[in-house]
Amino acid sequence: MADWPIHAKIDGPIVMIGFGSIGRGTLPLLQRHFAFDQSRMVVVAPDDEGRHILDEHGIRFMHLGLTPENYREVLTPLLTEGGGQGFCVNLAVEVSSLAVMELTMELGALYLDTVVEPWPGFYTDASLTVSQRSNYALRETILDLRRRQPHGPTTISCCGANPGMVSWFVKQALVNLAGDLGLDYSEPGPDDRMGWARLMQLIGVKGIHIAERDTQRAKYPKKMGVFVNTWSVNGFISEGVQPAELGWGTHEKVLPPEGRTHSDIAPTIYLMRPGAGTRVRSWTPTAQSQLGFLITHDESVSIADYFTVRKSHELIYRPTVHYAYHPADDAVLSLDEMAGRAWQPQREHHILDENEIVDGTDELGVLLYGHARNAYWYGSQLSIEETRALAPYQNATGLQVTSAVLAGMVWALENPKMGIVEPDEMNYRRCLETQLPYLGPVNGYYADWTPLTGRPGLFPEDIDETDPWQFTNVIVR
Ligand SMILES: NC(=O)c1ccc[n+]([C@@H]2O[C@H](COP(=O)([O-])OP(=O)(O)OC[C@H]3O[C@@H](n4cnc5c(N)ncnc54)[C@H](O)[C@@H]3O)[C@@H](O)[C@H]2O)c1
Repeated sequence: MADWPIHAKIDGPIVMIGFGSIGRGTLPLLQRHFAFDQSRMVVVAPDDEGRHILDEHGIRFMHLGLTPENYREVLTPLLTEGGGQGFCVNLAVEVSSLAVMELTMELGALYLDTVVEPWPGFYTDASLTVSQRSNYALRETILDLRRRQPHGPTTISCCGANPGMVSWFVKQALVNLAGDLGLDYSEPGPDDRMGWARLMQLIGVKGIHIAERDTQRAKYPKKMGVFVNTWSVNGFISEGVQPAELGWGTHEKVLPPEGRTHSDIAPTIYLMRPGAGTRVRSWTPTAQSQLGFLITHDESVSIADYFTVRKSHELIYRPTVHYAYHPADDAVLSLDEMAGRAWQPQREHHILDENEIVDGTDELGVLLYGHARNAYWYGSQLSIEETRALAPYQNATGLQVTSAVLAGMVWALENPKMGIVEPDEMNYRRCLETQLPYLGPVNGYYADWTPLTGRPGLFPEDIDETDPWQFTNVIVR
């Protein structure tokens, strides 16, 4: 334990909101890598499932749920008393990122979350339009706050594995590709968004899948009526019933029949169907060709936006970007069961922990496609065995997320006055440097697979053979 590097000092209180699978896994990384006064750390959550861990470590627990009515009153003293700059780490479901961010900016505290989370009820509010229930709309609320308050303490939105780390992988993958293609270029700096977008355009990337295969499996098979997952069941169900959403690339020829646009300048489109009911063809090194769920995620919007090239107002280049998620087999069965109930969630929820998983790997990376080398996957292949050896209280999925939280917190402490930022805007090299010891093998693989490989098979199909990388070939109809 003594060998772990201390990356930074936190001189004020740490307030962690939520102590579920991600909060629990984050705790040991905070203890290893930051110098801070543990008596000034507090965890706020309405359920006391992980309380024994906090008690063992002598960390204060406030058994309470935050609400729109109480969050200011609860958080203000916690983040300000005793001096120093407070750090709020929001790892809860059903606590508005926007509301807490506004408060922490007012108080001068640092802030990080892993998703733009709304207050309860948003995801299932039938009075909202489908567009209003999208991640595009949620992200816009954060960008709107940034427009109103361009300066302030560093406030990081969406810094988990994905959204989060995968934005850093995209940049590393571009640099690797540019090198392998023998391009004569110089690497854009962390603040040079346009430089990065032009590099992606130069390499000829048509699109990106956040391509994941989770093979972690438990000792006992899933029971009927239980939703099983390797991370937040609540979180997964919420995003699963949002519309499927994707960054819409300039190479795409036709909007899918269920495709809708938010506005002329929005970087994404959405489909009039839930992500949990939308399958796409994709590829990861272990699975090779596979089907994943097109679950909406903030990074589909932010990466597409970040790598957009415009000339005055004219759109010149943008990649298609979306998630292609094959979760753990038990989660696939859980989704199937939930779909059969017209998307009414199962009552019982279960997150597989590191003790009940027998084997498996979370293979999470970015598949950059459509360039001269066809397709390139770059990412982490973290097994449960390696995870157990690296850090307690989490499975492989958890460690990919918590190590990104760690990397984001380090970056925030080193750059404390950046205002609201997204992972795309952070220094990817610094963040990956902090995170890599926790990611298992991190490698790049070229693939000659395309969404048309093996098609059409025994039945006629409506495919576009002139360009395998059209979304119309990717989506499963
Ligand atoms: N970006 C990523 O890669 C990534 C990956 C996994 C999870 N996440 C997100 O991280 C968050 C946490 O995930 P998890 O797996 O730990 O979830 P979890 O379901 O295991 O735990 C959620 C926690 O939130 C707490 N909570 C619920 N309502 C609250 C309230 N009103 N006030 C305070 N706390 C409240 C719960 O008590 C629990 O401790 C979720 O929003 C999830 O979507 C992001």
